[in-house]
Amino acid sequence: MSITAKIHLGGKEFEFPTTEGSEGEKAIEISSLRSKTGYITLDEGYGNTGSCCSAITYIDGDKGILRYRGYPIEELAEKSSFIEVSFLLIYGHLPSRDELRRFSDLLTQNQVLHENMKHHFEGFPQDSHPMAMLSAMINASSCFYPGLMGSANRERFDIHAARLISQVRTIAAFSYRKSRGLPITYPKPAYKYTPNFLHMMFSEPYAEYEPKVEVLRALDLIFLLHADHEQNCSTSTVRMVASSQANLFASAAAGVCALWGPLHGGANQAVIEMLNEIHASGDDGRRFIEEAKDKNSGKRLMGFGHRVYRNYDPRARIIKKACDALFKALHITDPLLEIAQRLEEAALNDSYFVERKLYPNVDFYSGIIMRAIGIPTEMFTVLFAIGRMPGWIANFKEIIEDPKSRINRPRQIYVGPTVQSYVPMEERGK
Ligand code: ACO
Repeated sequence: MSITAKIHLGGKEFEFPTTEGSEGEKAIEISSLRSKTGYITLDEGYGNTGSCCSAITYIDGDKGILRYRGYPIEELAEKSSFIEVSFLLIYGHLPSRDELRRFSDLLTQNQVLHENMKHHFEGFPQDSHPMAMLSAMINASSCFYPGLMGSANRERFDIHAARLISQVRTIAAFSYRKSRGLPITYPKPAYKYTPNFLHMMFSEPYAEYEPKVEVLRALDLIFLLHADHEQNCSTSTVRMVASSQANLFASAAAGVCALWGPLHGGANQAVIEMLNEIHASGDDGRRFIEEAKDKNSGKRLMGFGHRVYRNYDPRARIIKKACDALFKALHITDPLLEIAQRLEEAALNDSYFVERKLYPNVDFYSGIIMRAIGIPTEMFTVLFAIGRMPGWIANFKEIIEDPKSRINRPRQIYVGPTVQSYVPMEERGK
């Protein structure tokens, strides 16, 4: 039996259809609300608004569930790799051996930037934030591929998607080298995705970087865990831009900008800055917890809380375990890890965080792993962007393949001045 929603407005009754997703999520379809009633919905921050139907990622924030194309994140983290998961997200199924080989070959063939792109790096000041360089360079690289501008067809999409996944990593490493005044290291075709990134970051002309297997595993896991997260701020931005039929690179560059903010992807950098501040002040975390609870302090416990998760973020659980394993394998310690563990324990036993259902999110421990690998703090959000690229591409593909896709254009309730007459300068006062 189909369920309808009834709204009573001004003595009249209006009916709206409902829809249900494959995991039982329910929505009231209100696309005819304004034309029927003259009203729109108002939902600042979109906490109750479904912007699309999507078959890519499922989250149950109350139960702490995350699945890519139906596969639990825990299983993928244990058995898969970032590149296999990228294929899964974009094409909807786990690749066969041949499909995975073709996909990997396409990534390798498209990993080198156009040589002229190198001049663009020269134009940035030495201390530019790598996220600024990343978004600018992704957008600029679209100029080198005229095929991007035409209508999307399957073959073109495959190449451009591979190019973007591969080149975002090359651009990221080049940005880092440039910001340190180091010579650029080119990718090696023989290397796989994650080793190649570390090679471009850390190999010198006179010394090849040789990562430990535990480091490779930890970094690949970080990319995999960040690969998609349904309609978050940056993915919604990518979909918004894509809905205007802007090209894939322009849409992804906009996603990078949205990701940069400290309330979103920038939180991994903010967590380490917070832990450093706590460490430098000699606090064991207790003072900071009190500050984070005080709305007037302007501080928050970074890496805690999530719009959707009202439970432990499943990615944080996996990352925390990986962090412990990496530190054990490398025989290292970090005072910031100890502070983070104390903060977590204190927060999970504090009624402020318990009542608001604030738990560690993916960013709480990921920065500590990246620090252990030798990734500089300002590159943390860039690594998030590398990981999130397949998710953005999958969402872009969903938009361009949907024959019903329309330009995204929310409405507003105007609260500014009503009509006014223009006042000449001499009558305006001082
Ligand atoms: N520290 C202290 N208090 C917090 C925190 C925090 N980290 N997060 C939320 N709160 C409080 C809010 O002050 C609010 O309290 P109130 O009800 O007394 O006013 C309540 O918890 C609800 O918080 P909102 O801001 O309404 O939650 P929202 O869903 O809008 O924000 C967000 C979610 C942005 C993630 C928030 O929890 C936050 O700022 N966390 C820290 C930044 C962070 O880690 N971001 C990464 C998110 S994951 C990602 O993007 C990959």
